[in-house]
Amino acid sequence: MTSLRLAACAAIAVCLASAAGAQGTAVSSPDGRTVVSLAVTNGQLRWSVARDGTPVVTPSRLGFTFRNLPALGDGLRMVDSVRSDVDETFSLPLGEVARVRDRHHELRVKVAETNASEREFWVVVRVFDDGLGFRYELPDQPNLKDFEIMDELTEFSMAEDLKAWWIPANVPTPDRQEMLYSSGHISKLDLVQTPLTLVATSGLHVVIHEANLVDYAGMALQGRSESRTLKTSLARWKDGSAVKGRTPFATPWRTLQLADRVEELVPSVLGLKLNPPSRIADTRWIRPVKYNGIWWGMHVNTMTWSSGPLHGATTANTRKYIDFAAANGLGGTLVEGWNLGWDGNWMLTGNTFSFTQAYPDYDLPGLAAYAKEKKVSLIVHNETGTFVENYDRQLDSAYPLYQRLGVTAIKTGYVGDTTNPGGHAHQSQYMVRHHRRVIETAAAHGIGVVMHEPIKDTGERRTWPNMLSREGARGQEYNAWGGEGGNPPEHESILFFTRMLSGPLDFTPGIFNLLISRSGTGVPRTPTDARPRTTLAKQLALYVVLYSPVQMTADLIENYEGQPAFQFIRDVAVDWDTTRVLHGRIGDDVVVARKAKGRDEWFVGAITDEEARTIEVSLDFLPRGRAYVAEVYADGPGANWRDNPLPVSISRQPVTSATRLRIRMAAGGGQAIRISPAR
Ligand code: NOJ
Ligand code: CA
Repeated sequence: MTSLRLAACAAIAVCLASAAGAQGTAVSSPDGRTVVSLAVTNGQLRWSVARDGTPVVTPSRLGFTFRNLPALGDGLRMVDSVRSDVDETFSLPLGEVARVRDRHHELRVKVAETNASEREFWVVVRVFDDGLGFRYELPDQPNLKDFEIMDELTEFSMAEDLKAWWIPANVPTPDRQEMLYSSGHISKLDLVQTPLTLVATSGLHVVIHEANLVDYAGMALQGRSESRTLKTSLARWKDGSAVKGRTPFATPWRTLQLADRVEELVPSVLGLKLNPPSRIADTRWIRPVKYNGIWWGMHVNTMTWSSGPLHGATTANTRKYIDFAAANGLGGTLVEGWNLGWDGNWMLTGNTFSFTQAYPDYDLPGLAAYAKEKKVSLIVHNETGTFVENYDRQLDSAYPLYQRLGVTAIKTGYVGDTTNPGGHAHQSQYMVRHHRRVIETAAAHGIGVVMHEPIKDTGERRTWPNMLSREGARGQEYNAWGGEGGNPPEHESILFFTRMLSGPLDFTPGIFNLLISRSGTGVPRTPTDARPRTTLAKQLALYVVLYSPVQMTADLIENYEGQPAFQFIRDVAVDWDTTRVLHGRIGDDVVVARKAKGRDEWFVGAITDEEARTIEVSLDFLPRGRAYVAEVYADGPGANWRDNPLPVSISRQPVTSATRLRIRMAAGGGQAIRISPAR
């Protein structure tokens, strides 16, 4: 009833609706299906959403509380509103799609306090066909200058007790995102992270997240027992406040992605539309890259980051990895453990990390020159151990050095938590500011950034396309660490519809030695040893399924020797013109097709959970009337993740847009397909 009455107000600026002083106004999406309403009742401002006339979000609170200032959320009235429409298309230098159309209707509503202090703010709403965003803008004004936000009152009161796919935000390392997902109704949730994927009984999918987090605290969502309301909960500074600011000030966008079918959640570009255009004028230096590296060896204990007989980052070893990259068309080699500071317990002594001085057995300038000669870029690793000040102090010496050496990408790391002497909450405003500083410093030196233990992705890559990729999920590394710690077979089919909706993931696929035989290293292999719980074909499929413009070929190089399936990793694209999900069920399976950027070449990635499945898909995404060849890397006879992960069958078959493919996957398996023009 309320939403209908408010929808009718969309035509005029602000509806003065009833004698009780209630006010309301609304704005609809370009296709008219989604209507966002703002209403003031009893002096409080609320927002709500309806789709096709059915409530999705019921009236939900807006406002703030501050340290040492009265709250801003009561005694309000609407005093002004402005509308505008946008329809424009922008390109992404790197992406799961090459172009994004931003078509939306915007409504800005100004509200002011009716009391003597008369503080005011705007709520800006943008409604797209695929969702909506809203943010607060606090203009410069006499009675609101410097402030510390203690609490953002924004609520999401869902019309239905939706099913959520969630990870907690209240575990000891509070806001690292390296956890396994659970599902359950929102009335049972405690504190959870975003993106939060929600499913209605109608099949509508709703994703709550945020966009353009520049100088604010990351948002988690607090559930209330037996309630359909989720409330914003902001990460905090050590002094307990959430956000320190001064007017004029704008918050990040609170976003709701909407999709009728789960397959329509991907590609998810809503957040990109809510970030400012690129600040890098000439982006030609920003390149997608496949890379190998001195990395997995440390995780399976055949090498060490620290100095000593098993030190991985030696000059000789790095040359081998660079040679392998050059021979196989990989553009980069990552080296971890090259810099002083890894000896001892680096998680406690990270304030001694040097980001310019190498261990004596690692010839940094020599290797950078060697890599350049081989047309491979050295990817330099900067683990901070969350001793952020130590890293900040060295940015101005390290980045110019890397630029002189021709380094094109840095991998940063923030292992640790708030209990570290130098540690700040990973999603805090402090860390948000730090990561921006790193991204901008890197951009100024022509360097791309891959963050581990990062802030969550809120679409920075539109503004700073050198923000290449990040972790912020339970990646492959967990499969090396031990027993039950590994990722279960369903993991990636959940990631695809949850974490991946925020942006690229540096998951590091491509483990071929799936049983991790550690012979010759002195480390015994026992039946409980950790290992990836996938088949080899699924490791290949992950390159297509888990989007990233930088993809690692993560295994030790010797494990690719004599492996015909490695050809898929040589061939697979990592930058795309278009993406289409052909089939998907959260936690069960995914089939996605992507067109390689600027080439008449397509890749299909299919993955399943612990169940074997056969899924039939149409190749009607191919241009009609043309002949193609599909190279299929499928689970081989008897393959399964549990005790026989290695068999892969490689076959070729002619296909056209009329072909229907039957994709057969083993338990824990997958399939990777390259489709190129028939000669
Ligand atoms: C955790 C990162 O995710 C991993 O990639 C890295 O090797 C270690 N930290 C050490 O920095
Ligand atoms: Ca990690």
